[in-house]
Amino acid sequence: MCGIVAALSRRNIVPILIEGLKRLEYRGYDSAGIAVLNGRLQRLRSTGRVVELEKIAVGLSAPVGIAHTRWATHGVPSERNAHPHVSGGVSVVHNGIIENHDAMRENLRGKGYEFASDTDTEVIAHLVHEHLRHGATLFGAVRKATDELQGAYAIAVIHESDPELIVVARHGAPLLLGLGAGENFAASDASALIQVTQRIIYLEDGDCAELSQSSVKIVDASGRPVERQIHISQLSAASVELGQYKSFMQKEIFEQPMAVANTLEMVTSANFVVPELFGARAAQIFRETDAVLILACGTSYHAGMVARYWLEALAGLPCNVEIASEYRYRESVPNPRCLVIAISQSGETADTLAALNFAKARGQENSLAICNVPESALIRGSELRFLTRAGPEIGVASTKAFTTQLASLILLAMVLAKLRGRLGKQRESEMLNSLRHLPAALTRVLGTESQIIKWAEYVAPHRHALFLGRGVHWPIAMEGALKLKEISYIHAEAYAAGELKHGPLALVDQDMPVFAIAPNDELLEKLKSNLQEVSARGGKLFVLADQHVKFSDGSGVEVIRMPDHAGMLSPILHTIPLQMLAYHAAILRGNDVDKPRNLAKSVTVE
Ligand code: M6R
Repeated sequence: MCGIVAALSRRNIVPILIEGLKRLEYRGYDSAGIAVLNGRLQRLRSTGRVVELEKIAVGLSAPVGIAHTRWATHGVPSERNAHPHVSGGVSVVHNGIIENHDAMRENLRGKGYEFASDTDTEVIAHLVHEHLRHGATLFGAVRKATDELQGAYAIAVIHESDPELIVVARHGAPLLLGLGAGENFAASDASALIQVTQRIIYLEDGDCAELSQSSVKIVDASGRPVERQIHISQLSAASVELGQYKSFMQKEIFEQPMAVANTLEMVTSANFVVPELFGARAAQIFRETDAVLILACGTSYHAGMVARYWLEALAGLPCNVEIASEYRYRESVPNPRCLVIAISQSGETADTLAALNFAKARGQENSLAICNVPESALIRGSELRFLTRAGPEIGVASTKAFTTQLASLILLAMVLAKLRGRLGKQRESEMLNSLRHLPAALTRVLGTESQIIKWAEYVAPHRHALFLGRGVHWPIAMEGALKLKEISYIHAEAYAAGELKHGPLALVDQDMPVFAIAPNDELLEKLKSNLQEVSARGGKLFVLADQHVKFSDGSGVEVIRMPDHAGMLSPILHTIPLQMLAYHAAILRGNDVDKPRNLAKSVTVE
């Protein structure tokens, strides 16, 4: 949800800001803008992508500046709503939502301020200006302004009369500082600064910092000066670049064998699993656990739904999976012995963070974060943690984050099962063996791509599609449908196949492609009967089946054989063809798969 980058140096920082914005575009891409100080305040803004801004910024040069790429919340995507916003000589970029902006707007109007945009952000620019007018320093004015803000923000502010300074602040939205030699930076994430520094300071909620070329001064929420730890970012340029691939989504789909192998690294050479994989206090907390509550959104929610089957079947633990944005507003019955698991690729999803806090506030204090971003708010806010090691996921559609989440969740189920006396040595060793073979099995599934492209060619001209699965593969059908609608804009729904006859069967005709996940498990025969219901109504069936299962091609049925049957790990393998299906359908429809319309990667607003 919006990306911020700020830089202050002796050299021209415009190329640094533009490059930083390009790396932050995954956070939003409705419009982009830049404001620099080079004797005076100069601002350029454009709708659409950062390349459009880059075109109009040719020739712009300055040692100090702030820049922004937007995901619109308040006000349509347009140049007048694009950041930076200005008030006199003050310029501000903002990520987040200011909840009390209406009241502030009224108040500021009363003081003679005029508004040039429909955004909530513009009130920040005027507020800072107002405090400067009353004699505050830039740092003091930003502190005073943020004291009046309700909601979430990460901001960077410059002022024409203070050309040596940038002031930044954060509350509820990510912001970090990058330290250089004789130059300093700020950004929404470390990838934006990869070209200039690896030395990173993650700001805490409530922090406000003043940057000059040679110094960084930070105060915490109470105004006390604080030293924050310097981290050396491990991010490599290659991990955030396309290399041989056409899109990040394609790259990330094909990175899955490696991402899963990295995530499982700590167990693949071991003969057993231990609770400490999830943190120092895991053994104690897991022993106290008598139920599990999983909170997540989107694809991460689907990972949670798969985990429920594993946790119940393996560990014998009752498990609820809740959409985070719903859970936080529901009067559910808290259980203090419940382990609350928050799953998130970014670790910054506002709904998931708020749901976790809500669960804790209701006395469910034992929490575990499954997350792909170290130092994210989710990781910092959870007692226990497991870091998926997928590497940066840049495509808006989540792919490798999902399969690595599943890999961590099966480990969790094993650990809990073992502690509860439900996982014998033999079974543990068999499961570890399957996990060892998982990356190779994923590589073999990627080999089905040429067959999947044919399915994509069929579905691409259609307007609707259905996805069916049963048991643990039902959430995989849901994930397949989400991927297809998210990037191809084809309307897709997923159903537990047994539900079909209770309503959705009415949708089935020759124009409704139906994709079915049909592994060789205990529900296969039931599923086959459900698929007969589709065939009998003239529906065209596309079936992902295991090798020796009787499914014949032809007469309205197309079958792709999965190279392996991975037992309990089967949902992880079945995800891959559905990701490739969505990817190729979207490409055939001419869509930007990495930046689908209306969406953004990190959803840091409610
Ligand atoms: O970063 P998170 O995992 O918390 O994000 C949750 C969802 O916004 C995310 O999974 C979304 O559904 C994906 N774009 C789907 O591909």
